[in-house]
Amino acid sequence: MKRPGDGFPQDQEKAGLRVGENPLLQALNGHVPVRVPVWMMRQAGRYLPEYRALREKAGDFLTLCYTPDFATEVTLQPIRRFGFDAAILFSDILVVPHALGCELRFEAGEGPRLSTTGTVDDLGRLATELDPAKVGKVYEAVARIRADLPKETALLGFCGAPWTVATYMIAGRGSDDQAPARLAMMRDPIFFEALIDRLVETSSAYLIGQLKAGADAVQIFDSWAGVLSPEEFVRWSVQPIARIVRAVRVKIPDAKVIGFPKGATLPGLTALVNEAGVDAIGLDWTVDRRAVRSALGARVALQGNLDPLRLIAGGRALDQGIDRVLDDFRGAAHIFNLGHGIRPETPISHVEHMLKRLRG
Ligand code: CP3
Repeated sequence: MKRPGDGFPQDQEKAGLRVGENPLLQALNGHVPVRVPVWMMRQAGRYLPEYRALREKAGDFLTLCYTPDFATEVTLQPIRRFGFDAAILFSDILVVPHALGCELRFEAGEGPRLSTTGTVDDLGRLATELDPAKVGKVYEAVARIRADLPKETALLGFCGAPWTVATYMIAGRGSDDQAPARLAMMRDPIFFEALIDRLVETSSAYLIGQLKAGADAVQIFDSWAGVLSPEEFVRWSVQPIARIVRAVRVKIPDAKVIGFPKGATLPGLTALVNEAGVDAIGLDWTVDRRAVRSALGARVALQGNLDPLRLIAGGRALDQGIDRVLDDFRGAAHIFNLGHGIRPETPISHVEHMLKRLRG
């Protein structure tokens, strides 16, 4: 078992926020943190009244994302209220296709709607580089957030993994089994590979921009990795993520990266660690924690994995869920999180209760 102070062999000290100042960075560097760091995926969002108020004032979601003052304020809201160990940049994974020229809107209660990209011709109409007028606003927000955040709070940047972003671009919206994207993969492999390549290149640049602007680490969300077969998982989730991590580390050799392949099995998670060299893996609530820990816990930090529904249920279901996660990961480089994003209907009092239980 690792002892406090033992780092992963491959790790180095980080230049900006020093590792010793933040338990999340301690975990990402392979140390057993002084206390369990905690943040929540989608921690800035509709379950917070202050978010809903600002969203109304901004008028629409993309205005929030591209107005550095608004993005900064929304990022800081959950930090002020709950004092999480990390803030996550307020933005969206669909900013990348938008900055390549896709039309994008978010209808209240309906989710995203994009112009579809389904053929080589469609892809040819998109840019090969991100529109600096759009992503420049995101980098500006990152710099402002880093300046305004408490020194002891880590700032996470993020992007979607190429596979997950491709599912939205191909279908033009969310879908349950990602049939449109899987069909495109089968019917038109040349188009599909070109789309993934475009997303690898632009997502790498996007993460580099965020890290240069002041993000302390980045997370890559592969929310739809779980619909892929084992072979497809390696080819379309792991390999593109590995290429992004390599490209980022060419520019920023000590960049810290969390991979979150939702729905991945242990062989899939192992492939991600082996091939992509991520510093942490995000786990959803369906994984076998002990099996993952014994296979991978000495090599990467483990992030997760409370079922977000337990946070809605509260009471015993919540307490038991928290305790089991803590028990299974005690003594590991563990970052407490949910197994997926917090849902809008979650009572704020349950989040407060979770933090009290975690921090004693
Ligand atoms: O985590 C955070 O608080 C930072 C901000 C963030 C958002 N989206 C804000 C958002 C992050 C990290 C994301 C990631 C994201 N976006 C993912 C990956 C994580 C996941 O949940 O699986 C995905 C798949 C998207 C795409 C997306 N954006 C969808 C499907 C939707 C609609 C459904 C939903 O969850 O609301 C969005 C909209 C969105 N992104 C909102 C927020 C706060 C709600 C917008 C609103 O105010 O109406």
